[in-house]
Amino acid sequence: MKNESMHMNGYRCFACAAEQSADYAGFQCPSCGGNLEVTYNYSAAAEELAGGFGDSPRDLFRYQALLPVERQQSSFPLRIGGTPLYQAARLGRQADLTRLYLKDDSRNPSASLKDRASAVTLCRALDIGASVVSVASTGNAGSSLACLSAALGMKAVVFVPESAPAAKLTQLLSYGARVLAVRGNYDDAFELCLAASKEFGWFNRSNGFNPFTREGKKTCAFEIWEDLGGEVPDRVVVPTGDGNILSGIWKGWQDLKAVGLVDRLPKIDCAQSTSSAAISQTVRRLRDSQEPVTDWSGVSVDQVQASTIADSISVDQPRDGLAAVRAIIESGGEAVTVEDSQILAALGEMARYSGVFPEPAAATPWAAVKQMADGKLIDRDELVVCLVTGSGLKDTARARQVAGEPTIIEPSLDAVRE
Ligand SMILES: Cc1ncc(COP(=O)(O)O)c(C=O)c1O
Ligand SMILES: [Zn+2]
Repeated sequence: MKNESMHMNGYRCFACAAEQSADYAGFQCPSCGGNLEVTYNYSAAAEELAGGFGDSPRDLFRYQALLPVERQQSSFPLRIGGTPLYQAARLGRQADLTRLYLKDDSRNPSASLKDRASAVTLCRALDIGASVVSVASTGNAGSSLACLSAALGMKAVVFVPESAPAAKLTQLLSYGARVLAVRGNYDDAFELCLAASKEFGWFNRSNGFNPFTREGKKTCAFEIWEDLGGEVPDRVVVPTGDGNILSGIWKGWQDLKAVGLVDRLPKIDCAQSTSSAAISQTVRRLRDSQEPVTDWSGVSVDQVQASTIADSISVDQPRDGLAAVRAIIESGGEAVTVEDSQILAALGEMARYSGVFPEPAAATPWAAVKQMADGKLIDRDELVVCLVTGSGLKDTARARQVAGEPTIIEPSLDAVRE
């Protein structure tokens, strides 16, 4: 699988640290079943990146030196990544913060950050000659895979909970994926997708389980760094369900350090709903025990019965939990949980004070930042980046709960005057 221009080395297990070579075909550690991290020959990548990322186009494939896919895939038919980083001064003032930024990843083709993961996993699927790709999803990973598969002409099978928001289901169906709406929750869909993919030989893109999703998501960190002119933020705040976006963002900053482009790392804060807080609970438990973890193979991640209105982060059993827990602890980040009512309030505030319209999950970082600011966990001049991972148009029913109602009038000037 490895060619000369790719710097991917192989894989390392997050739990037991066992290493595999680049031609290992499995997705999980053969010794312990843990999730695998893609490893690179960083000195070769550093040599290539000595002058930064150069002047290639502002999309995900700009970072090819740190991606585990063949080079010819750079002619990808849709533009993935290259999303804007906004300084959100008005919104920041609501929490007395002077350097708040929003990374608006709702500006991807299917309107969520998941397109980064789908792009890299689909390139990988093409590299190995897979013909059918599958995924379990709360909605966004599926609509993303469906969208990119449509552009590439690949067959996609998507397992979603029957209760997925209407807009996400509509996206999935419109892109022409085979949609299997499971009578059950995301975790049921995940297990079924695993079993079906094994049975029918499909390339399973499911979150966390597939090591290539993290590699796509990490490019979001590269863009933040470039858009800040090479400055490293104090914190990046990540809405978290499975923990794969969070572990991806941390990997991105670690990669930048490994190739010598940065000399410090941000804190990675996890933002969760109190009604779906498996990863935060685990971080608190480990921190309360006061003994630093030296052997991650002995650490188990909590499971919960999730019920949050932020459907994208409603997860019983986080599928990249250990990697995420490690990222929060190793980066010194906070594990923040907020009530669903705070998430909805944050959604409305973001729209009104920044012009960026998030789905509930994507409003969770702002709710978390406000709570941290209230608790004096953030200094007012810290450089804080909130990830906006999905568009408000994906779940307008929830947004409507805080948006209020229009004033209905007769079509006359008098009515307007009144
Ligand atoms: C909009 C949005 N935000 C956040 C997340 C959480 O990502 P993860 O499950 O990797 O923690 C998701 C995942 O579906 C998502 O779609
Ligand atoms: Zn292992």
